[in-house]
Amino acid sequence: MVPGGLTGLDGNALSQLVDALVERGWFAGERFIDATLCQALRDELQRLSANQALNEAGIGRGDQHQLRRDIRGDTIRWLDRESQAQRHYLALMAELQQQINRALYLGLFEFEAHFAEYPPGAFYKRHVDSFQGRANRIVSTVLYLNPDWPDDGGGEMAVYAVEDESREVARIRPEAGTFVCFLSDRVPHAVLPTRCPRASIAGWFRRNASLGGLIDPAR
Ligand code: OGA
Ligand code: MN
Repeated sequence: MVPGGLTGLDGNALSQLVDALVERGWFAGERFIDATLCQALRDELQRLSANQALNEAGIGRGDQHQLRRDIRGDTIRWLDRESQAQRHYLALMAELQQQINRALYLGLFEFEAHFAEYPPGAFYKRHVDSFQGRANRIVSTVLYLNPDWPDDGGGEMAVYAVEDESREVARIRPEAGTFVCFLSDRVPHAVLPTRCPRASIAGWFRRNASLGGLIDPAR
């Protein structure tokens, strides 16, 4: 929480986000997150990368987890609240969780997120973040951390139509401060091949899916 109990997120941008989630299933906003915070998060990711603290990302959770460089080529590290910048970002996401629950009754319960670095040439093929019926990830988020992303840098996030995954409906540049969120089981999306090192934080609001004694691996 920001001192004084004020939200750190712009009220106007928040209501646009909620409306867009309801009307089309996804939202993208430029300058949604403060430039100073983005810079601190990017510095932290660069330190982690220099210290070889990032791990190759896989697909599938729990027992199903496997490395597939032909599907995704990023390296990641889960947020662990170790820095002031992380705690600030997680506080903003807690605020967002509350606002989404208030407006949409989605019962969002917790948030998990990882830093991601895509080296030049890396991509993430078209996918959805959770499967209907087993949807423990309810709302996906991505914050980009790259100041002055060049026009020919590639690495855009492509968004596809909910009812027709072959139809691209938007291409979002991974410029610092840009924030995207979408319904995890509905919106197909991809990371197009990047030409520059590409830094971001991907996160997911989850519902508590461990009810009934079923084990629900977090990652
Ligand atoms: C993901 C993802 C999109 C992006 O990590 O699941 O789709 O633009 N990321 O980084
Ligand atoms: Mn995804």
